[in-house]
Amino acid sequence: MFLTAQDTFYVGVNDHEIDLFEGIYKVPNGVAYNSYVIVDDKIAIMDAVDEEFGDIWIENIKKVLGGRKPDYIVVQHMEPDHSANTLRFVKEFPGAKIVGNNKTFVMLGEYFGTDFADCREVVTDGSVLSLGKHELHFVFAPMVHWPEVMVTYDAFTKTVFSADGFGKFGALDVEEPWEEEARRYYYGIVGKYGKQVEAALKKLSALEIENIYPLHGPALEDDIGHYLGLYSKWASYSPECEGVMIAYSSVYGHTAKAVQLLKNELKAQGCKNVLVHDLIRDDRSVCVADAFTYPVLVLATTTYNADIFPAMREFIDCLTERNYQKRTLAFIENGTWAPVAAKLMQAKFEKSVNITFAQTAVKIRSALSAESETAVKNLAKELTGKNHD
Ligand code: FEO
Repeated sequence: MFLTAQDTFYVGVNDHEIDLFEGIYKVPNGVAYNSYVIVDDKIAIMDAVDEEFGDIWIENIKKVLGGRKPDYIVVQHMEPDHSANTLRFVKEFPGAKIVGNNKTFVMLGEYFGTDFADCREVVTDGSVLSLGKHELHFVFAPMVHWPEVMVTYDAFTKTVFSADGFGKFGALDVEEPWEEEARRYYYGIVGKYGKQVEAALKKLSALEIENIYPLHGPALEDDIGHYLGLYSKWASYSPECEGVMIAYSSVYGHTAKAVQLLKNELKAQGCKNVLVHDLIRDDRSVCVADAFTYPVLVLATTTYNADIFPAMREFIDCLTERNYQKRTLAFIENGTWAPVAAKLMQAKFEKSVNITFAQTAVKIRSALSAESETAVKNLAKELTGKNHD
């Protein structure tokens, strides 16, 4: 436990046992489930932690409070990594009230089989809960990342408790740069909901913010404008840098050779920033986050079972279900017989908005030929013509 903003104590936990966050995302440096205590005339606990850390969390709360008892637990988000100990909390601290909105209490009922009738404090968007000096303003942020999500602004410390927003993979006792794992977290967890994130950011823009305390990752207490700026960029699906990302899968190495040729040609044409991902071997969530980082994406793969090679098909699904948009796309396909991958890849983006498809088609029949090499070189010229860096 440690003091963060005035009267505000960290009581969360680090999870180094977890291998897959949400059953999907590799978290080699674990993850933190953040929870805070605000001590005033009344005492509020901001969120709980994952089920298996209940003992440590309750112990942390008791150490901060000495003999005092909490008055409230604010449930900003019902995903179980933050709410699984809610029932345990009210049993441990009878008399404390659960602060949530109507949707929160529906979900609490589903998870715990009770409506918590004797301890519910229902708030609405814009409600204020006074603890004394600290006044908690509730700002609904639906779909960042579930429908019941609300964030809380403590007007006394100018702190936003931001729920999943501004979260990051990685436990707090591991030092690593914020951006990379926060970006992977963002696009993995809330990337689909850019509009809703923008709406939440708009609401927050009316507030004077000195601290942002997310449910995962470190408390953000300096250079808040930097984090708000990045989130604004991510929410609007804007690229973060110039350059080209090439994502590929290759069965016998011939598609990989075409990718290497394209990389070399792009560099020769003056593109300084070329990132290549092997979709079979590289972490999927890293590939997805990087695809949103670059303005141009080249997809290179083979036809397989009269369809797109599975790793590529799944990668494209990850992009389109996250509303991939505002990008230039190019395709390289390879097939010994009946190649259809390029056509099928393009079709998968038919509902995506603001996508520019490159004019140059690269079709490889089995291995690079003089003709397909020329096509690769032409593609490099086309892409650098559009995208000088
Ligand atoms: Fe960490 Fe959407 O929960």
